Amino acid sequence: MARLRAYAPYSRFLVGSAVLDDQGRIHAGCNVENAAYPQGLCAEAGALSAMVLAGSTRAVAVLVVGDGDKWITPCGGCRQKLIEFCAPSTPVLTANLSALGPRFTLAQLLPESFGALHLPAA
Ligand code: THU
Repeated sequence: MARLRAYAPYSRFLVGSAVLDDQGRIHAGCNVENAAYPQGLCAEAGALSAMVLAGSTRAVAVLVVGDGDKWITPCGGCRQKLIEFCAPSTPVLTANLSALGPRFTLAQLLPESFGALHLPAA
């Protein structure tokens, strides 16, 4: 559903994402492109933003939906955005318009990640 709200006039590649938060709530996002191409936002970024706006900073599962026979996994930047709010063991589910695809843990997608624990305590 979120995917159908995507604003993707340049790539025409519609993506939807949903994150399940630690309170059992689902937050959705879609990609929002921009004529200045690098300013576009991925669906996962939108879903995380909705989660934070709703008052949660922990996601326990992630879904990414795109069309086609190649399963969509989060881009590199989104993997980093996700690790901010997820455990390494958090499942990342893939899907196209007709089926669920393979699932990964976030650690599989972003091994040896950099995160808040690497920073000196404030
Ligand atoms: N895109 C996402 O929204 N999420 C992904 O995981 C992969 C790529 C978007 C970005 C851009 O709007 C379009 O898909 C083509 O790259």
